[in-house]
Amino acid sequence: QSVLPEGYSARPLRRSDYHLRYLDVLRVLTTVGDITEAMWNERYDYLVKRNDEYYLIVICDGSGRIVGTGSLIVERKFIHTLGLVGHIEDIAVSQDQQGKKLGLRIIQTLDYVAAKVGCYKSILDCSEVNEGFYIKCGFKRAGLEMAHYY
Ligand code: ACO
Repeated sequence: QSVLPEGYSARPLRRSDYHLRYLDVLRVLTTVGDITEAMWNERYDYLVKRNDEYYLIVICDGSGRIVGTGSLIVERKFIHTLGLVGHIEDIAVSQDQQGKKLGLRIIQTLDYVAAKVGCYKSILDCSEVNEGFYIKCGFKRAGLEMAHYY
């Protein structure tokens, strides 16, 4: 079921992806800001030290260009007998690559990792315009997002 288009591949994020313009893929999602290579490296090194908590994946096209990404953050709780909850974050597919099921494949991959590491559920926040996409990915509306910006 989880089949990417011919020549496309999925892999974990790499430190060198700064040069493959990874951040430009995220720009379809929101403001990224000016991130220097040093800033990138510092954050990447933080994440990779916590590689049982942060799972960041990329999708590449046949030429190796990064065309999609998504993240899973595994939260470790006391409740539900030390339950693990997956948080799906920062899903983005390049504008010119949307509609090829790449978003669906990203979610399926993150779902697979979440179940494999023992999460009892995965949750995410999205806007109303993306509700249909996540329903197609097997999610259902649950609760209400609240935010407090600082
Ligand atoms: N509303 C309803 N259905 C949708 C939508 C939508 N907005 N987007 C896709 N779908 C449907 C598709 O038609 C397809 O249905 P089908 O199987 O019947 O053909 C199915 O969902 C799978 O679609 P994909 O082709 O996998 O979607 P795509 O690769 O274009 O990725 C995504 C969807 C990630 C929302 C992409 O459009 C994108 O990057 N948008 C901008 C960034 C964004 O909003 N990201 C999500 C933020 S929320 C979060 O990160 C937790």
